[in-house]
Parts: sequence; C-alpha cells; structure tokens
Amino acid sequence: MDLVLGIESSCDDAAVAVLGDGWRVLGEAVASQADDFAAWGGVVPEIAARGHVAALPGLVERALAEAGVGIGDLAAVAVGAWPGLVGSLLTGVTAAKTIALRRGIPLVAVDHIEAHLAAVHLGRPEVVYPLVGLVASGGHSHVYLAEAPGRLTLLGGTIDDAAGEAFDKAGALLGLPYPGGPQVDRLAEDGDPTAIRLPRSYLGDGTLRLSFAGLKTAFLYAIKGPQGRQPVTLSPQGVADACASFRAAVVDSLAGAVVEAAQQTGVRTVAVGGGVACNRGLRRRLADEAARRNWNLLLPEPRHCADNGAMIAALGHARWRRGEVADGQLAPLPTGRAGPRRRG
Ligand code: KG4
Ligand code: ZN
Repeated sequence: MDLVLGIESSCDDAAVAVLGDGWRVLGEAVASQADDFAAWGGVVPEIAARGHVAALPGLVERALAEAGVGIGDLAAVAVGAWPGLVGSLLTGVTAAKTIALRRGIPLVAVDHIEAHLAAVHLGRPEVVYPLVGLVASGGHSHVYLAEAPGRLTLLGGTIDDAAGEAFDKAGALLGLPYPGGPQVDRLAEDGDPTAIRLPRSYLGDGTLRLSFAGLKTAFLYAIKGPQGRQPVTLSPQGVADACASFRAAVVDSLAGAVVEAAQQTGVRTVAVGGGVACNRGLRRRLADEAARRNWNLLLPEPRHCADNGAMIAALGHARWRRGEVADGQLAPLPTGRAGPRRRG
C-alpha cells in the first residue's frame, strides 16, 4: 500500500493523517486551538503559528502510531502550502520538508481549497470525474468544475464574504461563542426559517456569482434595529428563529449556485467540501436536490469537511502519482499560487 502523510496547518487547526492508496484513512491526529481563540473572537495568527510548532511533532507521532506504521514506511509527504495564514502554513511546510529531506521521500505541495474537494476520496476507493464541487469555508465559497483531483476550473463564487465568515459574523452579532457557524447551525434546528425575511444572495443571472455582504447587513438591521445599534433583546426562541432564518438564506444561495453549475455543465456528480459543508441545513438541502435531480452527491464526513490532514494527503497522493512534486525551495503563500482559472 502507498502511504502518504498529510500535514495541514493553514489556520487555527494543526492536523496530520496517514492515508493508504489515496483513500484509506489509517491514522489521524488533530490539535484544535479554536477554544483558545474564543476569548479573542477570532484567530490570532502569531498565536496559531506558535501553537502549531508545539503540536506538530506529537501529531505526526500519533497519526503514525494509529496507522500502525513507522516514518520509514511513508512513500511521500504532502503539505497544505497555500492559501492561509502564512506563519501557520510555514510551520507545516517546514515539518513536511524536514521529513521529506530526512527520509529521502518526495514532498508534495497542496492547495488547501483544492484539497477540500479531494476529501471526497476519503473512504471511497473510486470517484468518477468530472464533478461539480462547492467549497464553502471560512475564507471561500466557490463552485468549480473538477476534471481530476486538483484540476479545477472556477465556475463562480462569492464576490465578497465567504459563507463561513458570514455565519461567524451572524453568530457574533447574536452573542454566540466563536466560531459562530456551528452554533448558528445547532440553534437553527429549533427555529423557524421564515421568521425573518432576508435577501437571497444568489444573483440568479446565470453567472454563478454569490454575495453575502447584503445578507449580513440585512441581518444586522433585523436584529439590532434600522441603525444597527440597538441592543439584542431576543428571547431564546427569537435567537433560534434568527439562526434558522439566516441559515436558510445562506443554504438557498449555496444550493442555488450548485444547481446552476450542474445545469450549466450537465455534470451529475456533485461534491461539497469546507467547514460549511458540516452544516446540517446545507447537507439536507443538497441531499434533497440530489434525490430530485438524480445527482451522485459526494458529501465527506463532517470531520473531513473541516480542515484536516487526510484531505491534504488525498490530493497529495494524486499529485505525487502524476509526478507533481515540490523541492526544497517550497515556500508557503498566503493567497495561493496561480489559483484555478476562471472558465471562458
Ligand atoms: O474549512 P474550514 O474548517 O476552515 C477554512 O478553511 O476556513 O471552515 C471553517 C468555517 C468557519 O467559518 C466555521 O464557522 C464554518 O466553517 N462552519 C460552519 C459549520 N461548521 C463549521 N458553518 C455553518 N455550519 C456549520 N455546521
Ligand atoms: Zn479549510
């Protein structure tokens, strides 16, 4: 079996995984700093990077131990090298380089966004391409046409905020702990999605552009009055209704874009990745659309939708097999390299 080690450190989670043959998850270890950042209301890059430096060696050991293999058994090491917080990325890139140089094995640089879609390979021996893929995370909300792992054409996406960022801001507005996305999702389960009328950001003009800035402002005014300055005086049921209304608006937008992309391309395999793909409302809605439209819907398990090492190893495996390996000059980049190109 080909064993690839995947290292992820782009934001506030450090994660390492051992993957067999590009799809079998053999060992995983994660060190999340999300709780530490709750007090700050967001990620502090310098603290995140220092946390990763301390955590990574132990995570590598734990992932290898869980897989029951030694570092000498690895065929390649893959690392999320862009985009992300550059100090955080640097810690993973340095760890991966060290292992690759020390063991004399190939080093593979992986794009974090592309890796979110490669998560569909985890636990699945075969994935048939092409597929339409939505990546919805804290920094991205984009729809792609994928011809192979990491071979993506951008079809469209948000022109302002990302879906996860919008969820987090809605949560902060309601006084919920950071990160708001999972909290809003959880409370939405007991709320009425029609309680507050909110705009749908999907522009519906066939261009696959999304926008969440207007939704965020409309939500602010709905919760804190026309000036956006009144204190929040919602009852617990009012908070649940607000969460449900906000989630419904985001889900309508994201699902609308995916439906449009599937129609435009004629592709019936649909994949979703990124932290927002954990959202229960979005998962149910996409399952409904898939049943109605006869899609083959590929939804990774929630732990593989959020940032994880296995998705890095999955894309790393595919790139390594295609000969796309990096050298010792590899340096992380905050914004990504050339990035996937827009169609047309
Ligand atoms: O992919 P990810 O773990 O990190 C980035 O690459 O950004 O995504 C994190 C984002 C955060 O904004 C978080 O609030 C959001 O995903 N998120 C959710 C849920 N779980 C995580 N948003 C809505 N509903 C959820 N259940
Ligand atoms: Zn991510």
